[in-house]
Amino acid sequence: MAEIRIRNTGERIKGDENVSAFLNNQEVLYEHWDASKLAAGLQDKFVLTDEDKAEILSTYDAEIRDLAERRGYKTWDIVALSDATPNLDELLKKFEDVHTHTEDEVRAITAGRGIFVIKGTDDVGYFDVELEAGDVISVPENKPHFFTLMENRQIVAVRLFIEPAGWVANSYNDPTFQKA
Ligand SMILES: [Fe+2]
Repeated sequence: MAEIRIRNTGERIKGDENVSAFLNNQEVLYEHWDASKLAAGLQDKFVLTDEDKAEILSTYDAEIRDLAERRGYKTWDIVALSDATPNLDELLKKFEDVHTHTEDEVRAITAGRGIFVIKGTDDVGYFDVELEAGDVISVPENKPHFFTLMENRQIVAVRLFIEPAGWVANSYNDPTFQKA
């Protein structure tokens, strides 16, 4: 289950109902897939072969197609990040720039953990969504955000796209944003 941390106040929101209600209010899609469906050997594996990636996609084929049909995604792939990823530190530094996209950014976490930092409504400000395996999130188009890893620095996620070519990060220069 995801947890929320409000950056301005440090307040944490836990529990599926509370998290769902909060994210719904912030117009962030939040759903679940059954993380235990994945073969045990892939639930804790972060350096993936092409066969591993194909197996993850086929395990969640029904969930992917259901989401794609409802929301118009045309293609999908797997992203895996860990300390084995070349230049992970540089990548994470690059990620930590608040940005927007002209389409929504959807991720279904299949292993590991990660954080979306999202600019909420004015009364809330920036908040972290701490995600774990089974969590599915979509940050709406034009909503400022960035993605980073948690302390364990490992994650596998399915990404879905409407237009892969149109999924470009536009920097969002926000002087009020405080890096944690
Ligand atoms: Fe993004």
